[in-house]
Amino acid sequence: MQPPSQPDRNIALELIRVTEAAAIAAARWAGRGDKMAADGAAVDAMRIVLGAVEMDGIVVIGEGEKDEAPMLYNGELIGNGRPPQVDVAVDPIDGTTLTAMGRNGAISVIALSDKGSMFNPGPVVYMKKVAVGPRGRGAVDINASATDNLKELALRLKKPVQELGVVILDRPRHDDLVAEVREAGARVLSITDGDVAGAIATGWPNSGADVLFGIGGTPEGVIAAAALKGLGGEIQGVLYPRNDAERVASEALGYDFTRVLHTNDLVAGDNCFFAATAITDGDFLRGVRFHDFGATTQSLVVRSQSGTVRTIETFHRHDKLQEFTTAGF
Ligand code: FBP
Repeated sequence: MQPPSQPDRNIALELIRVTEAAAIAAARWAGRGDKMAADGAAVDAMRIVLGAVEMDGIVVIGEGEKDEAPMLYNGELIGNGRPPQVDVAVDPIDGTTLTAMGRNGAISVIALSDKGSMFNPGPVVYMKKVAVGPRGRGAVDINASATDNLKELALRLKKPVQELGVVILDRPRHDDLVAEVREAGARVLSITDGDVAGAIATGWPNSGADVLFGIGGTPEGVIAAAALKGLGGEIQGVLYPRNDAERVASEALGYDFTRVLHTNDLVAGDNCFFAATAITDGDFLRGVRFHDFGATTQSLVVRSQSGTVRTIETFHRHDKLQEFTTAGF
């Protein structure tokens, strides 16, 4: 008889400290109208804590190329250099405008997976996406029409199309999509930003969101794939060029604008970790609350191998907060 296997390390439980730090730093800027300052504070805080995590990581998805991002740039080596070797995707704020405007739905996120397993978006900014939670897995096809996908999903979820909630980023490029979804009879849950949280909502019990459609950031698609893997959902993406020049330049680098990227193409294997902390209030997490003694955060920790999904509320003492930021709490 095989002995029971030892539970191994859930690095996402350590990563939560990284997103907590970024979220608290960003939340100080919530509603102050300054996207750059919010992002800068989140990046600073995230970098400090991330550097201390025991791992030999490389930033596959970060703040941009080295010459434009002083920290957390793509290709940066991160962690204390000891195993495991991992790919790292960070978005210190998904929803910089949401944060700056004090709107709901901004989160700080990080995803980790085995070295070489994460899709590198390179210069391709946008991806067409369809995402569903565990019950909808296998019922959607990115090359099918929204109408057909909604019919299939309704059958799978055993409810009428009229009861489906469809998350769509509020952008002019989605006007036709929104019209089609409404014509099909489903409800559009419009978000102004933050399609990582939008994708997660499809896999979150009782969120009211059943599917996400539309064109959003490619990095956000990869990060959402890591989260949905753990949640048991699915995301499909097709790279979407903003113009001909971008298509030609990206094709020269080997990017294929016709290929369907499935969850496993975006994050391969079954050893990925995802952590998120809410900056402002959202569907499944409450945003950072500052109080006399410090701050309280709510986070999500997801591990694909075990399929565990944890929500964690953390109380941070005021004096300790100073340790990971220069922002001044
Ligand atoms: P930022 O926080 O970087 O501004 O991204 C927010 C976001 O809404 C993403 O969630 C989404 O994938 C992307 O922007 C959509 O891009 P665009 O605003 O160009 O339509």
